[in-house]
Amino acid sequence: MRERASPVMTQDPTSLSGKVLVVGGASGQVGGAVVRYALEAGARVAIAVRKSWQVEKTTAQFGTKSVLVGCVPDVDGEAAAGFAKGANDALGPIDALLCCNGAFAASEIGRDSTGDLQDLMTANLFAVANLARAMVGSMKQRRLGSIVCVGSAGVGLGGAGVANYLASKAALHEWVRALAAELVGTGVRAAAIVPSTIDTPSNRAAMPGADTSQWVPMDVVVRAMFAAAFAPVGSGPLYPVPRSTS
Ligand SMILES: NC(=O)c1ccc[n+]([C@@H]2O[C@H](COP(=O)([O-])OP(=O)(O)OC[C@H]3O[C@@H](n4cnc5c(N)ncnc54)[C@H](OP(=O)(O)O)[C@@H]3O)[C@@H](O)[C@H]2O)c1
Repeated sequence: MRERASPVMTQDPTSLSGKVLVVGGASGQVGGAVVRYALEAGARVAIAVRKSWQVEKTTAQFGTKSVLVGCVPDVDGEAAAGFAKGANDALGPIDALLCCNGAFAASEIGRDSTGDLQDLMTANLFAVANLARAMVGSMKQRRLGSIVCVGSAGVGLGGAGVANYLASKAALHEWVRALAAELVGTGVRAAAIVPSTIDTPSNRAAMPGADTSQWVPMDVVVRAMFAAAFAPVGSGPLYPVPRSTS
């Protein structure tokens, strides 16, 4: 089902001062841009990576000022709970969980590997849900918080070679929709931004010669994440991302 279009608001970077954010998928293109924006805007950021060797690399990348990095393997609930407690103790109560993790893979059904669907479900739904379940309880206690993840505008459109990918993103959309309903009245919000193709180095490398004029610029995606977290407008909880915020 397509969501009604709703405007994605711009966010004044200075308004993130003092906010505590948890970011998943920071080793990726969107996640990295989200962390950079958040730190420039004065937020404190706890970054969940999924492999232990990424802790040192990520710390070297983003520094230690206002940053905490911890390892939460894909669906390890205990690690997620420990990470949430560590983030709370070191940085303060968590204002928003920004899940920028996810994966894409294209393959025709029958030619895909046995684990392809499972891998996509893990990256696009299970890992998000694992972080969210570790943080939603304290957000509810505080009656404040946002959980935002990244869906896909491809959901509802179908397409050859992307059944596994779209199924995993459709599952994410429905999970967010139900979670948002469950959270009504708690002061906590769940949302997903729903971009089409994002203008990333990977996409440019994978699709040389593509018409990039219809791709969504990275800064628009990043602002959409923060708008969904802190300044939701329109119908939600799924927010289409227009190519421009102007
Ligand atoms: N790029 C696009 O055109 C586009 C369009 C629509 C939606 N999206 C969505 O936007 C989000 C960010 O995309 P991106 O372009 O930044 O992707 P990316 O550069 O490939 O980064 C993906 C991130 O997800 C993490 N990840 C991969 N598999 C995971 C798993 N099984 N469990 C937990 N984390 C996992 C990666 O961590 P590792 O480094 O550890 O692998 C990485 O941090 C994704 O949800 C993607 O589906 C992207």
